[in-house]
Amino acid sequence: MDDRPRRSLLYVPASSEPMLRKAPSRGADAIIVDLEDGVLPDAKDGARAGIESLWLELDLGAAEVLLRVNGPGTPWHEDDLAAAARVRPAGVVLPKCEDPAEVAGVAARLEGTPLFLMVETARGVLEAPGLARAPQVAGLLFGAADFRASVRASREPDEAEILVARCALVLAARAAGLDVFDTPFFEYRDEIGLEASARRARGLGFDGKTCIHPAQVAVVNRVFAPTAAEVERARKVVEALAAAAREGRGVATVDGEMVEALHGAEARRTLGRAGIGPQP
Ligand code: COA
Ligand code: MG
Repeated sequence: MDDRPRRSLLYVPASSEPMLRKAPSRGADAIIVDLEDGVLPDAKDGARAGIESLWLELDLGAAEVLLRVNGPGTPWHEDDLAAAARVRPAGVVLPKCEDPAEVAGVAARLEGTPLFLMVETARGVLEAPGLARAPQVAGLLFGAADFRASVRASREPDEAEILVARCALVLAARAAGLDVFDTPFFEYRDEIGLEASARRARGLGFDGKTCIHPAQVAVVNRVFAPTAAEVERARKVVEALAAAAREGRGVATVDGEMVEALHGAEARRTLGRAGIGPQP
């Protein structure tokens, strides 16, 4: 698994060939070809067959292509896993995860394929630390719509009802060294609401946000990319620490603030997210 930035991950229903064909050119860092809730039960088998023949074309663009399968216990799970084993996506997204042992079972079936676990129920949030430590897991994804239904929460303008779950996911993911991606924002014409939601997620530590419409991609990419000021500061931190190290010191001062190794690591991560190559 490479460490390319994943700011935006666009869900595309596997049943829509026109959407699939254009998806790699929509600017998202990753696309999630969806066999789960974006596809009606009667259309699942046809959609699965369709993406198998289309997969190589989808995989040609710059976007990483992930596959969301139907979960264990559904009538489509086995066939979806078999299809995943054939197309070998960059990652498999498993919905409604609640049981680390079940995830381990899927990992054994898809040896070598990174798993991205959706945490979107009360039980899933409470099990998040165990889920994050299951084999082959590369990231956690939050799904707010299923989560709200699961805990019978209402929708608040400031998203207060999902704060606990968001924090639980960030803690579980970071404790296990994983990436973590925020819920989609369903009012896809509301750019201001989307930006506010994305900023909240970024502030809590999320690496990126899932999208359901191509118009959301640019907003999400902008929010999750480092700002020019952050890049400038990161450069200064890396340079100051390199200069200090040449003089045998482990700490340096940048704009009146002491910085040390942890700031250097954070600064290099910022430069990496900005697409700026390895630093001293
Ligand atoms: N991925 C790729 N392309 C998409 C897309 C998506 N998720 N959503 C819309 N598009 C395309 C449309 O096909 C259209 O393409 P065109 O300009 O070439 O004709 C363009 O973007 C504009 O679409 P628009 O007319 O504004 O939206 P719509 O009414 O066609 O679709 C939704 C609205 C919500 C039905 C659609 O965005 C969608 O299906 N989103 C994904 C939902 C999903 O995956 N849910 C499960 C995960 S939570
Ligand atoms: Mg869901």
